[in-house]
Amino acid sequence: MKLKKMIALMASTVICIGMLAGCGGSAGGNGSAQTSNEKSSGKKVIGFAQVGAESGWRTAETDSIKSIPTLDSNFDLKFSDGQQKQENQIKAIRSFIAQKVDLIALDPVVETGWDTVLKEAKDAKIPVVIVDRKVTVSDDSLYKCFLGSDMVAEGKKAAQILIDQFGKDAKLNIAELQGTVGSTAMVGRQQGFNDAIKDCPNYKIIKSQTGDFTRAKGKEVMEAFLKSDGDKINVLWSHNDDMAMGAIQAIEEYGKKPGKDIFILSVDGIKDIFQAMVDGKANATVECNPLLGPQLLEVAKNILDGKEVERTINSKESQFLQKDAAAELPNRKY
Ligand code: AHR
Repeated sequence: MKLKKMIALMASTVICIGMLAGCGGSAGGNGSAQTSNEKSSGKKVIGFAQVGAESGWRTAETDSIKSIPTLDSNFDLKFSDGQQKQENQIKAIRSFIAQKVDLIALDPVVETGWDTVLKEAKDAKIPVVIVDRKVTVSDDSLYKCFLGSDMVAEGKKAAQILIDQFGKDAKLNIAELQGTVGSTAMVGRQQGFNDAIKDCPNYKIIKSQTGDFTRAKGKEVMEAFLKSDGDKINVLWSHNDDMAMGAIQAIEEYGKKPGKDIFILSVDGIKDIFQAMVDGKANATVECNPLLGPQLLEVAKNILDGKEVERTINSKESQFLQKDAAAELPNRKY
């Protein structure tokens, strides 16, 4: 009986060792490693660690990223939704490393706290591209490049819209809906906006709180703003369109007219905000381009071919006022 058990144990050990040997990934010519299944298919694999699905912008970005394998059949994509939690994104990166993907693309929910996991990717010789939002790390060699928008410039453009509309001396009581605290989209937009209104003595931010980039929280926070200062607020500055959409609803329920009693200014350029502008309920949006899939593919190809890439690759963006919304609405892709 004992002998039978020992023979069975030895046999299963031999099978396991055989399986491990067969599944081991090896370093490719570019220094990166491949997963076993894609190695046999010859495809390059990108692992994408997404922030979440908090906004229309995010959904558009996800769709664009997921189009990579259809844009180039030599590429496969492994996609992970971090549900707005850094720990989920860290787990996803570790799983991409374990699967030996060729390149990791990270859209980081917040800027800090990435050193350890990016070092693990570097040690595994997997190049990393930071997409959309930035990271702050102690060692710049932990990632190859950043691809995305200039969020500080977006905040400045938003402030300039107010200056053009009302003049520098106007008396504006601004309610600010911040994005996710600690994210580049929040930090950059706030910094750009605040810098640009420094010379406007009567532009006052009388309310400021995070709505975490979601429509539901934007509405909830705006309700609270209106409850305490509903008669004073004459501008809503929202770090994204989705929170502005929630706030528009709150303003209507409060009995005021969004777009008229309160000037509605936000960032992204999603279809819903264009419709709100056409309906006279929103006033302006600064575009932030989420259609990053084709650019990420180009960058990935260059890196994996061993070519040099720019350290920062910015996407092209514009801004739109209510008067241009009807003409632009049919052209919007997200
Ligand atoms: O990082 C980009 C920002 O994140 C978008 O402006 C916002 O809508 C999204 O949630």
